[in-house]
Amino acid sequence: MLDKMQIAIDGPAGAGKSTVAKAVAELLGLFYLDTGAMYRAVAHKALMNKVDIHSAEEVSRLAAQTRISFDHAQGDRVWCDGEDVTGAIRTPEVTRAVSVIAAYPEVRERLLAWQRLEAERGGVVMDGRDIGTQVLPRAELKIFLTASPDARAKRRWLEVQATGKEIALAEIAAEMERRDRQDREREFSPLKPAADAVVLDTTELTVEQVISEIVTMAQEGTK
Ligand code: DC
Repeated sequence: MLDKMQIAIDGPAGAGKSTVAKAVAELLGLFYLDTGAMYRAVAHKALMNKVDIHSAEEVSRLAAQTRISFDHAQGDRVWCDGEDVTGAIRTPEVTRAVSVIAAYPEVRERLLAWQRLEAERGGVVMDGRDIGTQVLPRAELKIFLTASPDARAKRRWLEVQATGKEIALAEIAAEMERRDRQDREREFSPLKPAADAVVLDTTELTVEQVISEIVTMAQEGTK
């Protein structure tokens, strides 16, 4: 039963979704899909091809001509049109562009179709913004991860520091606030908890505690 389970993990930037989702998938033997990486791959391709990211039509056309795949055997590499874009999709330029293109309904429809197809492989943990509400509305377990804006900015700042880059905490907090507002206020599939999601505030929790809570909920749900 557990190996066929679908788990949706949504929430704002910096809530720890991908770290937690990846670990939960590993512990439960499920497949992990980072849907944000798909939106990032489209944003990256648009920037590389000098496509106007403010033109929904142009970006949608580009998305329709894009092939994204994941290589889990090699440490979650992300491929776009045969090119390894794992590192390239995490730049500040892509991070700024992605919430603009993620608001376009045609782009979302295209990626939604792929995400649902991937989910047919079997048990899966997916993280994103609309997994519980749109992508996997029948997921057995839906988690909405939150944390205070200060905690989320601090976590992201520590991650950036660890890569050796210098950036002010205030800059990260402002960028995060802007992106979350855009994700929350967009018309199509905005960031919000599904009616049947468990909202987990991680401000005072360690990553290990969050992972363990979700694994327990998954195991109890299948008893
Ligand atoms: O999780 P992330 O930071 O890599 O996501 C990048 C952007 O993609 C985020 O600003 C919102 C968008 N996104 C989305 O709209 N729907 C998803 N399911 C996943 C991400």
